[in-house]
Amino acid sequence: MIDTAFASKVVTVLVAEQPCIGEFLASLGLGAPPARTTLGEWLAGLSDEAVADAGMDRDHILGHVQGLSKEVRAMRAADDERVESLTILGGRNKLGEAEDVSLTIRAGEIVCIVGPTGSGKSRLLGDIESLAQGDTPTGRRVLVNGRVAGDDRRFAVDRKLVAQLSQNMNFVVDLSVEEFVEMHAHCRMGVHQGDVVARVIACANDLTGEKFAKDISVTQLSGGQTRALMIADVALLSASPVVLIDEIENAGVDRKRALELLVSKDKIVLISTHDPLLALRGGRRIVIRNGGIAEVMETSEVELRTLRGLEEIDAKLMDIRDRLRGGQRVEAEIEW
Ligand SMILES: Nc1ncnc2c1ncn2[C@@H]1O[C@H](COP(=O)(O)OP(=O)(O)OP(=O)(O)O)[C@@H](O)[C@H]1O
Ligand SMILES: [Mg+2]
Repeated sequence: MIDTAFASKVVTVLVAEQPCIGEFLASLGLGAPPARTTLGEWLAGLSDEAVADAGMDRDHILGHVQGLSKEVRAMRAADDERVESLTILGGRNKLGEAEDVSLTIRAGEIVCIVGPTGSGKSRLLGDIESLAQGDTPTGRRVLVNGRVAGDDRRFAVDRKLVAQLSQNMNFVVDLSVEEFVEMHAHCRMGVHQGDVVARVIACANDLTGEKFAKDISVTQLSGGQTRALMIADVALLSASPVVLIDEIENAGVDRKRALELLVSKDKIVLISTHDPLLALRGGRRIVIRNGGIAEVMETSEVELRTLRGLEEIDAKLMDIRDRLRGGQRVEAEIEW
């Protein structure tokens, strides 16, 4: 769908404000837009052949430029105020009973959300994502740094606090992995250190069992590789201080490393999960029952020891998985 307001922006002005847009247009090989031409006029004036060569249609180009522009503004907005904490004030569960909770989560914390299927884990993540103010089915309120966030933060999509990881990243553009990360780094950090792109790619490769080269196209990445690239990208480049993860179940990603990476960046991480390895890795876990927060538990010493044992089992499983994938036999005795 054409966004007429955005299409009426003058290209050279946009590029001056946000140089990464110029870089993106250049990467499509479409040449420099003439001065005083709006984005819409410029796109309409391109030959169909040139557009086809760029590998995208006009709407896609417009949509992508708009997406980039929003990201850059979000990055700048996030600099306005550091998020030190999120506070969840209870609402009511599905039975209408009051949820007696005031839970504050600080930067650098991992908090897991556990509970049966359909209990309301994703709903809680949704409340945080929208910084609910009693306006969702749960009636919860979510505060940022102890205060109600301004409407500009709550409703403007381009000032989002939250990065949500989902598996389907829609790559609309046929760039190499390196070009893709380069573009993100440029948009988010402006002038960036030369090795940050290499670090994102190395980190993504660290997270996935199936390594990939920097010069393959992003459209050729597998689900697990895409996921790993997104996690590395969010951890090292994203401006969002809050990361919400709904069920990472993808076996192709080293979840332990992924979490360490996200947390070392002083982000607030919330993960809904059914997986004991993840559930025990948070410092605290929220137990959801009937749509309400029934309990908030700290992970105990004994549970941490259980986690170590589970990690050893998991490492052995990963090793066996890798060997089977590589066409090997697993006949050597394994001690459990
Ligand atoms: N406090 C509540 N009041 C009213 N409706 C609620 C409440 N909490 C959750 N719900 C609703 O219950 C349904 C199931 O919740 P949700 O999808 O969050 O479950 P889940 O724990 O994520 O399940 P799964 O483990 O299968 O992903 C949703 O429609 C959600 O909006
Ligand atoms: Mg869910």
